[in-house]
Amino acid sequence: MRIDVLSLFPQAVDAGTGYGVVGRARERGLLQLQGWNPRDYATDPHRTVDDRPYGGGPGMVMTIEPLRAALAAARAAAPEPARVIHLSPQGTRLEQAGVRRLAALPRLILVCGRYEAIDERLLQAEVDEELSIGDYVLSGGELAACIVIDAVGRLLDGALGDSDSAQQDSFGDGLLDCGHWTRPEQHALGAVPEILRSGDHLAIARWRRQQALGRTWLRRPDLLARATLDDRDRDLLAQFITQWRQRC
Ligand code: ADE
Repeated sequence: MRIDVLSLFPQAVDAGTGYGVVGRARERGLLQLQGWNPRDYATDPHRTVDDRPYGGGPGMVMTIEPLRAALAAARAAAPEPARVIHLSPQGTRLEQAGVRRLAALPRLILVCGRYEAIDERLLQAEVDEELSIGDYVLSGGELAACIVIDAVGRLLDGALGDSDSAQQDSFGDGLLDCGHWTRPEQHALGAVPEILRSGDHLAIARWRRQQALGRTWLRRPDLLARATLDDRDRDLLAQFITQWRQRC
């Protein structure tokens, strides 16, 4: 997959996606990332990329031309058609299903804004979709772009060591993940749950599923309402709820 990023701070995106699973995916060529700085395409001596907003008000607006030229250069750098995405708090909120959809595309161009906004004409003419990473406002799109690249990059074929682990993650099947433990078995902070030490793989899988259902019920009932549960899941959850109520 190829991802081009338009940003006044391309180094921030490079650094934010240079480590761990996604850093390795980049090193191995599974993910090709290239930054494009609109300032390099500004034509005036001061390399200006912003101007005051029509109608007044605070802040500056990113002008059309430097962004348009940077975008044209990015598009021309590879033959694959690219989906152009503007990171914005006004966009559709990104969820794991959206991440999977993006990971199946050959190429993305992420447009990161700074200042108050990007001129609306550029957005309407060039952008295919707007994505938000959550209902809060960042000072620019770069961190949001890093999040998109990280979430997408780890889903690329071969990026994760164990191909199962993406499915077992939180949201892999619409539920939160269960808890995890490692050595030591006994610690001043507590013991590892007995069942995980039993060696009974079927019982462990069942217990983990129950924990995932229960944790989702406790913490994110909105997700549970949207998840597809079978009869066995419903039984496991009912049992979890009964035990939980007894403990309270
Ligand atoms: N830019 C600023 N805030 C943002 C957000 N919440 N999501 C995506 N891009 C942004």
